Amino acid sequence: MRSPRTCSDIDYTANQTPMGAAAVFQQLSRLNEDPILGLMTNFRADPHPHKVDLGVGVYRDQNGNTPVLECVRRAERAVIAAQTTKAYVAAGGRAEFNDAVTDLVLGADHAAVRDRRSTTVQAPGGCGALRVGAELIRAAAATAAVHVSDPTWGNHVPLLGSSGLRLERYPYYDASAHRLRFAAMLERLDRAGAGDVVLLHACCHNPTGADLAPDQWRALIETLQRRRLVPFLDLAYQGFGEAIAADAAGLRLVAANVPEALIAVSFSKNLGLYRERVGALICIGENSAGADAIRSHVLRIGRSIYSMPPDHGAAIAAHVFADPELTESWRRELDGMRARITAMRNLLAAQLRAAGAGGDFDFIRTQRGMFSLLGASSEQVARLRDEHHVYMTADSRMNLAGVMPHNVEYLARAIGAVLRP
Ligand code: LMR
Repeated sequence: MRSPRTCSDIDYTANQTPMGAAAVFQQLSRLNEDPILGLMTNFRADPHPHKVDLGVGVYRDQNGNTPVLECVRRAERAVIAAQTTKAYVAAGGRAEFNDAVTDLVLGADHAAVRDRRSTTVQAPGGCGALRVGAELIRAAAATAAVHVSDPTWGNHVPLLGSSGLRLERYPYYDASAHRLRFAAMLERLDRAGAGDVVLLHACCHNPTGADLAPDQWRALIETLQRRRLVPFLDLAYQGFGEAIAADAAGLRLVAANVPEALIAVSFSKNLGLYRERVGALICIGENSAGADAIRSHVLRIGRSIYSMPPDHGAAIAAHVFADPELTESWRRELDGMRARITAMRNLLAAQLRAAGAGGDFDFIRTQRGMFSLLGASSEQVARLRDEHHVYMTADSRMNLAGVMPHNVEYLARAIGAVLRP
């Protein structure tokens, strides 16, 4: 047979697999869908008119829409109008974005900023920041364990564990009693090895909605210092708890009182930029030379995974942060999102009591952010889905932004029917 002389001579339609060749991917068996993302697919496929989506953590308004924020619309128009090139920005992303993120998260007068011990690198979303942080830990201390809360966000374990790091769990929350297990948490961290890393949710803990109080942050810092543990703070919901600065208060205290820390920041929720993948990794070193060295490693790690972070969303965010009028509009819109979720928390707790669902639902009212754990078993969660078309993750995490004035009564009755003893 004549061998093809150019690419256009090759017949790609014929079956070309030579007999006996190794089928490398053939050995892979099909995986189940991601537990959180799979819920989106199942919910969309359900034709029931009263179905309720308490699944994936995206904000919804009272009509069930996830709006593009007005400040984002205006900034996006300005960004596109001013853009003259699509050439690369830089491995670390936009400098003005990174500076604004540092101010927003740590505050401009933070000791670590003043001492030039902090460095911020743009990342593809909070997930990108978490993964780069994990690779950094592995490069610096391959045998260090990363301690994650029990429970924690479903994607923390794959994101950090895929880097090859050893993960351990510390007790955090009792889902049947609806309260923190703070003494057990400290007791466990007190036995962690020096140089181990502790993953902490800076605010609006996902999935529990239960955050540390100021005195608990202080007690935790004492343990971090004594055991020489490195905090890795995940900040994905700044502004959804109480306010932008208040939600970073615990994080700021930690960052000021330890020699080294990592902070993964996401703007998916508070700027509604989910699909644009806007995030950052803030690294705090012992001194400015240390921070500089860390930065060089972070850039090298990013380069080896995705080369450079995407620019569009970060350009929008930077524009919002640079324009006082847009920043003010953002703060108002963020306040509005938080107020709606708080109102729905109050309403659901009241409706559950009215529906005689059994138990005390005050925790739904007092917890913060998008999530609370209902405290139902996985069988009860399956019944809610199959019999009542109410969707939540198997650990009974509810996204309270999925509660609306028009569905709250139906939802409370459904929960009551399944939970009532
Ligand atoms: C969630 O917790 O549902 C969100 O953070 C979305 C995700 O990627 O899991």
